[in-house]
Amino acid sequence: MVKTVTGENYEVHDLSLAEKGQKRIDWARKHMPVLGQIREEFKKEQPLKGVKIGACLHCTKETAVLVTTLRDGGAEVFLCASNPLSTQDDVVAALTKEKNISVYAWHDMDNEGYYRSIANVITKKPQISIDDGCDLVTTLHKLKNGSKDPEIETVKKYGATADLMDNIWAGAEETTTGIIRLRAMAKDGALKYPVLATNDTPTKQEYDNLWGTGQSTIDGILRGTEELIASKVFVVSGYGHCGRGVAIRARGLGARVIITEIDPHAALTAVMEGFEVKPMTEAAKEGDIFCTATGCKGVIRLEHMETMKDGAVVSNTGHFSVEVDVVALEKAAVKHEEIKHMVDRYTMKNGKSIIVLAGGRLVNLALATGHAAEVMDLSFSDQALAAEYITKNKNDLKAKGGVVVDIPDDIDIKVATLKCKALGINLDKLTPEQEKYLSGWSEGTA
Ligand code: ADE
Repeated sequence: MVKTVTGENYEVHDLSLAEKGQKRIDWARKHMPVLGQIREEFKKEQPLKGVKIGACLHCTKETAVLVTTLRDGGAEVFLCASNPLSTQDDVVAALTKEKNISVYAWHDMDNEGYYRSIANVITKKPQISIDDGCDLVTTLHKLKNGSKDPEIETVKKYGATADLMDNIWAGAEETTTGIIRLRAMAKDGALKYPVLATNDTPTKQEYDNLWGTGQSTIDGILRGTEELIASKVFVVSGYGHCGRGVAIRARGLGARVIITEIDPHAALTAVMEGFEVKPMTEAAKEGDIFCTATGCKGVIRLEHMETMKDGAVVSNTGHFSVEVDVVALEKAAVKHEEIKHMVDRYTMKNGKSIIVLAGGRLVNLALATGHAAEVMDLSFSDQALAAEYITKNKNDLKAKGGVVVDIPDDIDIKVATLKCKALGINLDKLTPEQEKYLSGWSEGTA
């Protein structure tokens, strides 16, 4: 078990890493100019004055820039990890030094530590929840409905009570998996407060999910395997924004890329973009490197791994560790060796071995450091403005009840416009005639 140190407003691994963490946060800040501009506005206008925000996010240097921005806007922020492996220990050590920020996170936390940290956030009575994967929202809801799940017993042990959800005005969700869970909750009538779908806004989807995931996933696979990608057969499961990003980057490095899909539109798009599409039963036999990006469970199963080549590398970049059935592999394997931190080799009865990266958890954040600051600049600017929007519109939002709400277009346009300015991208402007043309219907075939 990883050792932790606790104080009034933190539980982290090692405070002596703070100086190193601060340097990395400063580095990220330099690469996040849009969030920097929002921070300046927040400092002046204090739109979050007195607001308590509970955030369950990957605790990276980019997240540190987000939470300090929210704090500079007047909020008190309580942060815990949204994945047991993604916390950067130096970054959270640096955050313990910040006023009005509490942080409960360390790399390689066990399940008890994970839910103790969530309890430490929700017992501070946040009014806004910011989630990456929906664990904060579901924990609050399960507490409220008296669930007997072991995680709920853990949060209760650390002081969390059913009434805490009543403090929440609304939430914001960062990732696709979280949105899938929220929509399922809303459909069941189980969701009790509104949540903004930050994940679905174009400035998140089209950059973070696509190019952010594309680069950081390849980064994680390379740090784990140190293998050449060129000449390899690289199988990507799922051709949503994330899978597409991984496929494009793997092809760029010289791999032959095969896509597996369940959706005919996504499959057609992949084919139009020059990729092969095959079922996993066929792709399993051909691939050298596998990466799942579906948000669904049981995508690579034992029956697939049994037919893979000797030494095939299996990884996942989806939010939860359910896409590759590592549990079944572990049971069936005759030998298990840790090659290095987060790289495991399983030898099967047939004599062949499978290399599993990060235990099937998200490879981009567990083996690498997540998306680059330049893309998180967009997603976290959306999150900062979402928190401001929730605060300004809390009564209207609360009245909506348990629904998933789109981020207003003007937030998305503001973030995109500021990013263009930061990158020195100059745009054309519509002339008055063009504006009239686009808003009218009378001009047709001349
Ligand atoms: N999700 C993906 N990359 C991330 C990063 N660098 N920080 C926080 N959340 C992330």
